[in-house]
Amino acid sequence: MKRSGRDSFSSSIGILLALVGSAVGLGNIWRFPYMMGENGGAAFILIYLVCAFLLAMPIMISEFVIGRRARTNAVEAFEKLAPGTKWKMTGLIGVLTAFIMLSFYSVIGGWTLNYLIISLSPSFINAANDSNDFGRIFGEFVSNTYGSIIFTWLFLLITAFIVSRGIKGGIEKSSKIMMPVLFVLVVAIAVRSMTLPGAGKGLEYIFKPDFSLVTSDTVLAALGQAFFSLSVGMCCVITYASYAGKKENILSCSFFTVAADTLFAIIAGCAVMPAVFAFGLNPGEGPSMAFITLPTLFSQMHFGGVIAVVFFFSLLLAAVSSAISQQELMISYMMDRFGLSRRKTVVINTVCIMAVSTLCALSQEDGVLAGIKILGMDFLSLFDYLTANFLMIIGAILIVLFVGWKMGREAYTTELTNGGTVKIPSAILRISFFFTKYIAPAVILVIAVYSIFK
Ligand code: PHE
Repeated sequence: MKRSGRDSFSSSIGILLALVGSAVGLGNIWRFPYMMGENGGAAFILIYLVCAFLLAMPIMISEFVIGRRARTNAVEAFEKLAPGTKWKMTGLIGVLTAFIMLSFYSVIGGWTLNYLIISLSPSFINAANDSNDFGRIFGEFVSNTYGSIIFTWLFLLITAFIVSRGIKGGIEKSSKIMMPVLFVLVVAIAVRSMTLPGAGKGLEYIFKPDFSLVTSDTVLAALGQAFFSLSVGMCCVITYASYAGKKENILSCSFFTVAADTLFAIIAGCAVMPAVFAFGLNPGEGPSMAFITLPTLFSQMHFGGVIAVVFFFSLLLAAVSSAISQQELMISYMMDRFGLSRRKTVVINTVCIMAVSTLCALSQEDGVLAGIKILGMDFLSLFDYLTANFLMIIGAILIVLFVGWKMGREAYTTELTNGGTVKIPSAILRISFFFTKYIAPAVILVIAVYSIFK
C-alpha cells in the first residue's frame, strides 16, 4: 500500500546524476589525492582501477539488482527477496553503517563549510605563509568547541533540507545542479594547477607508475578507497535503485557511475599533485592535505584567494551530494518501518546524528573529547575505520553472496536484461555473474582476513 505513493526518480539522467553524486564526494577530492600521495602515485591508481572495476563494480551491480527488483528500503528489500531469513541483517548493517558514517562525514563537511566561509575573506589567504601557520589555523578551528559543533550541525541541516524534499524534488533536483557545476569547477582547478611552472613532476607522479613502492598495504588501501568512493557495501545503491524505473539499464548505469567517479578522482589528483610538486610541498601529507597543504599552496598562487573559494565550494558540493545518499538510506528505512512522514523522519534522524557527530567534532587536536581513545583512536578516526575497513567490507561480501548464491543467475540475468528487452552479449552476462558469485566475495574475503591478521 505504501508503495503506490512511493516517490521515484523522474528520468534516467536523474538517477545517474544522483548515483554519481553519491559516489563523488570527500572520498574523491579530499581522500583520493592524499591516499595516492601516501601510496606511490601512479602505481596506486592502477591498483585502484582494478579494485574499482573488477571488485567494486560487481557490488554496485548487485545492489542495483536487489534495489530495483525489491523496490523498497534496504532492510525490507532482503526480507522481500528472501522472506523469513536472516538476510535482512545485511540491510540493518547498512543502516547502521550509514549512521556511523554520516556522524563523522558531517564533521569534515562542517570543516569544509567553515573553510569556504573563511576563505571568502581576503585576509585568509594572506594570514599565513607556510604550512605551520595553516596548521595552527586548522588546529585552532577543530579544537574550538562551539565552532566545530556549529559547522557540523549546519552541514547536517543542509543535508536534512534537501532530503526532506524527497527524491524528485530534493535529491534528483539538487544532483542535477550540483554535479555539472562541480565538474566544471574541478576541471578549472586542475587546468590552473597543471599549467604552473614545475607541474610536470606532479603529473609524472600521477601517470608514471613506480611498482617498487607497492606493498600489501597499497592493495588494502586501494580496495578500501574503491568501496568508500563508490558508495558500495552499505546498501546505499540499493536505496537509490529502489526509486529507479524498470527501464534503466543496470549494467551501463553502473559502469558509467564507476567511470565518472574514477575520472573525478583522477582529475582531483591532477588538481592537487602538480601544484603540490610545483611548490615543493609533501605529497604524502595525509588527511590534513585539503585543509593545511592546499591553503598553503593557494596562498602562494596568483589568484589564490579565488581558487581557495572555488576549491572549498567544490568540496562542499561533493560532500553534500554524498551525505544526502547516506541520509536517504536511513530515511527510507525509518519511514517504512515506523510509518512516519518524510519530514518527521528527517527531523528525528538528523537530531540523533547531530548528537553522535558531536562526539566526532570534539575529538580532534585539543578538542574537549580528544583525550578519549578507543582502540587507540579518537571518535572520528574510529568511526572512519569502523565503516571503511570493517562494516562496508562485511556488507559488500554479504551483498554479492546474496545475489550470487541466494537470488541466483536467472534473477540476475532477468534484472540486467530488463526481462529480455536489453540485448547484452551472453558472454558478458556470464563473466559478470561469475565475478559476483565467486571472484568478488573470495578476493574481498582474502584481503579482509589478511588485513585483520597481518
Ligand atoms: N562515496 C562517498 C565519497 O566518496 C562516500 C559515501 C560512502 C557516500 C558510502 C555514500 C555511501 O565521499
